[in-house]
Amino acid sequence: MPAPDDFVVTPYEVKGKIDYARLRELFGTQELTPELLARLHQLAGGELHPLLSRGIYYSHRDLLPLLDGYANGRPFFLYSGRGPSGPLHTSHLVSFDLCAWLQRRLGVPMYIQITDDEKYWARAGLSREETAHWGLENLYDILALGFDPKRTHVFFDSRSIAALYPLAIRVARKISYSNVKAVFGFPPSTNIGLVFYTALQSVPAFWPSWAEGRTVPCLIPCGIDQDPHFRLSRDIAEGLGYPKPALIHSQMVPGLLGEGVMSTSAPRTDDALFLNDPPAVVERKLRAAFTGGRATVEEQRRLGATPEICSIWALWRTRFAESDAKFAEVTRTCRSGELLCGDCKGQLIERVQRFYVEHAAAREKVVGWAESTIVTTPPKPL
Ligand code: TRP
Repeated sequence: MPAPDDFVVTPYEVKGKIDYARLRELFGTQELTPELLARLHQLAGGELHPLLSRGIYYSHRDLLPLLDGYANGRPFFLYSGRGPSGPLHTSHLVSFDLCAWLQRRLGVPMYIQITDDEKYWARAGLSREETAHWGLENLYDILALGFDPKRTHVFFDSRSIAALYPLAIRVARKISYSNVKAVFGFPPSTNIGLVFYTALQSVPAFWPSWAEGRTVPCLIPCGIDQDPHFRLSRDIAEGLGYPKPALIHSQMVPGLLGEGVMSTSAPRTDDALFLNDPPAVVERKLRAAFTGGRATVEEQRRLGATPEICSIWALWRTRFAESDAKFAEVTRTCRSGELLCGDCKGQLIERVQRFYVEHAAAREKVVGWAESTIVTTPPKPL
């Protein structure tokens, strides 16, 4: 018998060292091949987005028919979301960075779901005031990545429920309790809010088709951990008369403290860079971050370091190396021992602090129009 997998990935729990190829196999998703990337590149023009060229997006469902449809004049829409449990950290930007890029390149509409209900149900320590507060704060950060105010629509669950509910009623009837229990691994103590919630996460995938009374294909960029929700969406789509949403899945960005650390001295918040961390905190967290370096400078010069296990390298890779050439240089000089961890961290600190300044300015500009993107009324009564 093969060894059991020593990692867990569900929307509500991610733990262990993830074997991504194995996860694709377990979930039954397809590999994002160079051929598919080339097809997307051809449609999008310019340079491929770093999240695609560097392999962070690595899996998909039905991407090819969606792209072929687009090429033949059948535009799709994008859908992604965020469960607001606190301030965003830089790895939460992975799906929205890709969405903003796709929207700019392909001119497609974007639907964002902010699930202040889900996070309240999922995290015992959070108050309703907190999830609602962070929902709006997170939305500002997301919109500041460059979404087009005219083509971007937001379902803020507690405030958009009237717009979602007529469709949620129909979706919920198609999903059985035993299926939810099996897909999410819920124990008997799970509150019934969370049992129902997956219906609400499916709704935006069908909403434009429902609203427009015609087939509008959907593409969902998301972390691979969210796939279980959309397996359900895809299972029920045809029965409701809507197309199955296509998906493109990213790997999870590792924390700053390294895999499997169980430090009691470092607070959990030191595991990530929050978008509201002041410059000195960014510096402190990055200086303390886990790397793939050697015990001594002499050893590192001689043997080189290991980028693949390094949390600093993961940040260069996901967002902060602005060009693929810069990323290749960091990788090469790290491996060869030319680049020492202290210098690499110094460069990254500067780069991240520059992003924070630019992001704060962009964020200020969206506050004025963010509210206008929130959908509050259903397109039709039933
Ligand atoms: N469940 C997601 C979270 O916990 C939020 C979410 C809602 C989402 N709709 C989505 C994520 C669509 C990706 C795609 O953050």
